[in-house]
Amino acid sequence: MRTTITQIKEMKAKGEKIPMLTCYDYSTARILDEAGVPMILVGDSLGMVMLGYDSTIPVTIEEMLHHTKAVTRGVKNALVIGDMPFMTYQTGHVDAMKNAGRFLQEAGAQAVKLEGGEHMANTVRHLVEIGIPVQGHLGLTPQSINQLGGYRVQGRSAAAARKLLDDALCLEQAGAFSIVLESVPTPLAKLITEKLSIPTIGIGAGPYCDGQVQVIHDMLGLFPDFVPRHAKQYLRLGDLIREAVTEYNREVRDGAFPTAKESHTMDERLLEELT
Ligand code: KIV
Repeated sequence: MRTTITQIKEMKAKGEKIPMLTCYDYSTARILDEAGVPMILVGDSLGMVMLGYDSTIPVTIEEMLHHTKAVTRGVKNALVIGDMPFMTYQTGHVDAMKNAGRFLQEAGAQAVKLEGGEHMANTVRHLVEIGIPVQGHLGLTPQSINQLGGYRVQGRSAAAARKLLDDALCLEQAGAFSIVLESVPTPLAKLITEKLSIPTIGIGAGPYCDGQVQVIHDMLGLFPDFVPRHAKQYLRLGDLIREAVTEYNREVRDGAFPTAKESHTMDERLLEELT
């Protein structure tokens, strides 16, 4: 039985921290699930780390559904959230409902995430009313990168901090079950976390959020283009893969791979008949 949004909300009530990771494929999903991660986000960050786009803007609903299906096939226990890509919900409630519904109906996700505060509250309310749980996303919202002018910390001025707090309260009132806070100063994230009864999930928002989320490629050292300041590399998987592939490349060229151990035998008499 997969984790529910009720269980995620209970974790905050009990003071239990909530780990969340992004994931985009079946094999990795199985590993995260077996490791006990309770919440998996199929983030539109896949546009950058899986597909090589230079932002999340070009990601389509079909790409998101394709990867979400792969992830849900690998997950038995975690709550799976599908990230609504740019222009699949900003264009109105009906679009939002149709597209969010596809994540649940076609891809097996249990919730969706969307970016934006007060101006998205009505959309969140509509989705929740028809039975689609919503995770909000505030602070640095990468789908607005052209408006924000860069990947910068948000909420640093008094007015911007007040707006972020108001946005968070609006999303809670609209029925969001949790909110991602991305690149927000630690004290502001702490205040928002204390003011909300739903969990905050931080990324570059300090240690006081109810949970944390990381892009899996960042924490595994697998994304070569850059390492964000908020990422901790638990592994340098990219280096390990490079070493393994270099060795394979050399062994094939030298004739050292495959050996008898990786090959198949057959009845010698059959071979004699053939020759
Ligand atoms: O797309 C994504 O991976 C995200 C997380 C960084 C929260 O939105």
